[in-house]
Amino acid sequence: MKLRGVVLAGGTGSRLMPLTKVTNKHLLPVGQKPMIFYPIEKMTSIGIEEILIVTGIDHMGDVVNLLGSGKDFGCRFTYKVQDQAGGIAQALSLAENFADNQPIVVILGDNIFKNSIKSYAGKFMDQKNGARILLKHVSNPQRFGVVEIIGDKVVAIEEKPKRPKSDFAVIGVYFYDPSVFDIIRTLKPSARGEYEITHVNEAYIARGQLAYDILDGWWTDAGTFESLNKANEMVLVDPPQ
Ligand code: G1P
Repeated sequence: MKLRGVVLAGGTGSRLMPLTKVTNKHLLPVGQKPMIFYPIEKMTSIGIEEILIVTGIDHMGDVVNLLGSGKDFGCRFTYKVQDQAGGIAQALSLAENFADNQPIVVILGDNIFKNSIKSYAGKFMDQKNGARILLKHVSNPQRFGVVEIIGDKVVAIEEKPKRPKSDFAVIGVYFYDPSVFDIIRTLKPSARGEYEITHVNEAYIARGQLAYDILDGWWTDAGTFESLNKANEMVLVDPPQ
């Protein structure tokens, strides 16, 4: 059993307009590399060899031009097109054939962070089943999926809550067993018309199968001007492992 990697790099990048008018958010520079290199390198650095890249129609050509077969990264890329921006869980549903009943790690293409995911991946592989998410203490939880923790258990997750129940954001690194695709088939779109990754994680909570770790080292996403600036600053000051 070997962990496979899925990088979700779709979406319209609307919060970064006009930077994203003619290109994909994940191709924008962060430090000295395109943003998408960071999640890919998190995977290759722990020995993941099979990586699926999901992106929209508009910039798939550029993404393939940039990344190629995977030879330069020491991995093999598979590409899947998301026809419409229908949410993270919808993008993930496209990974079912690729996953081929193996466990997967999913990283959102705009999540940039310092530490290796090796220890978390190891703990996930030791789980018999279920999912594992990573959390980070943040000062602006309203912008993220936010957990409610009782004791050592995540008991609820709320997507972009007005009144967050904690300061712990769910970051865009998720470990899933193969049943994730059955869960996605049961989902309904949220009020904003998207298939939410938070709903996937809630389904694992309902089964009592959602484990978590708190990520060590700095973390940011890079989907807004403020966070993109922060990502640029952090990778230069304290480069990712
Ligand atoms: C997404 C998820 C959210 C998570 C965040 C991490 O939000 O929906 O739960 O906290 O990624 O980057 P988005 O950035 O797509 O609004």
